[in-house]
Amino acid sequence: MNDRHAALALDRADPLAARRDQFALAPDTIYLDGNSLGVPPKASAARAQAVIGGEWGEGLIRSWNTAGWFALPRHLGNKLAPLIGAAEDEVVVTDTISINLFKALSAALRVQNARDPKRRVIVSERSNFPSDLYIAQGLIEQLDRGYELRLVDDPSELPAAIREDVAVAMITHVNYRTGEMHDMRALTEHIHAQGALALWDLAHSAGAVPVDLNGVNADYAVGCTYKYLNGGPGSPGFVWVPRRNQNTFSQPLSGWWGHKSPFEMNPQYRPDDGIGRYLCGTQPIISMALVECGLDVFLQTGMPAIREKSLALTDLFIELVETRCAGLDLTLVTPREHARRGSHVSFEHPHGYEVMQALIARGVIGDYREPRVLRFGFTPLYIGYADVWDAVETLRDVLATEQWRKPEFAARGAVT
Ligand SMILES: Cc1ncc(COP(=O)(O)O)c(C=O)c1O
Repeated sequence: MNDRHAALALDRADPLAARRDQFALAPDTIYLDGNSLGVPPKASAARAQAVIGGEWGEGLIRSWNTAGWFALPRHLGNKLAPLIGAAEDEVVVTDTISINLFKALSAALRVQNARDPKRRVIVSERSNFPSDLYIAQGLIEQLDRGYELRLVDDPSELPAAIREDVAVAMITHVNYRTGEMHDMRALTEHIHAQGALALWDLAHSAGAVPVDLNGVNADYAVGCTYKYLNGGPGSPGFVWVPRRNQNTFSQPLSGWWGHKSPFEMNPQYRPDDGIGRYLCGTQPIISMALVECGLDVFLQTGMPAIREKSLALTDLFIELVETRCAGLDLTLVTPREHARRGSHVSFEHPHGYEVMQALIARGVIGDYREPRVLRFGFTPLYIGYADVWDAVETLRDVLATEQWRKPEFAARGAVT
């Protein structure tokens, strides 16, 4: 593509272009960070007001029943299910990824311990999101039964690392730093052929790429709603457990929301039948209620159309950066093959942090991940082709004029 007119023509022909009106995004901002924190759907503000003023303010305690608050984790789980290939009553929206991972990994290890106690290895990638590795490390220490975390340095090493001593493979579908996507079907088949269980982290997949958990016969999955699903900062995550695995064991965070009959106030824990046993305690209802606003936009759209546009946007971004920013020290980190790419694109630059701060100051918002990685997320519901063109032109200007060298762009906040 050689000029902005061509990008505008693509926007005019884009069947998803009108979706942008459903989001509260300032017109002068090019937001390429929906892979970290999505943009608020316009419906969220009214929903928050209704929850705070009406359901909480007027309904008060009655709203646990009358406004369906208690049922929200299951209700939202059922709405989210079609986006990830899950069935009814297989998902609950609750807690964080880290907490849900702890529950699912604990349950998976117990299943495997009952089947084959010699399996003492959890396999993952060194480049996995650190919290996943920390949770596995914490659980291993807690169990104190000789479990080991085996980490591979390159995704190509995973098949060989998943062998007869492995209990669980804990894999993130789309890598948070590189945007590289695994073949979930092929890897799950291999994991099962080796007698292990497949636990998938969908943080950068739910709402970003089509996922078919039941179709690939996965065993457990976790994910969040604050990235591509636009649930809001710190909105609850989700945990998926297929029916065949639900009642095998109760997860160890056996709080009262996971009890079969919580209001009996029985001193003895009895897990709920089904996915309800993956709940723990009282949920942040205001935040949780807003998750529905994001899900509703997805349910009006469907993942195939979103994936088609996501690939077109990321293809265009890669092409434009490589042509218009040639010679400016950027190196593509994300795979070019569609089948191996999620919905964000990463480039390395020796001064990636400063370059990203300079971009943000110009209204092009992406983020930075150590070491040297500039991350750009493409969310087809509110990003268009002209946005891609304008973002690349700004990037070129920031690099060519070395604006990023200004001292203020070297200052680091707590969150990068
Ligand atoms: C792949 C992945 N896993 C886990 C997490 C941590 O999620 P949470 O803070 O909800 O526990 C993140 C956060 O960005 C992530 O990207």
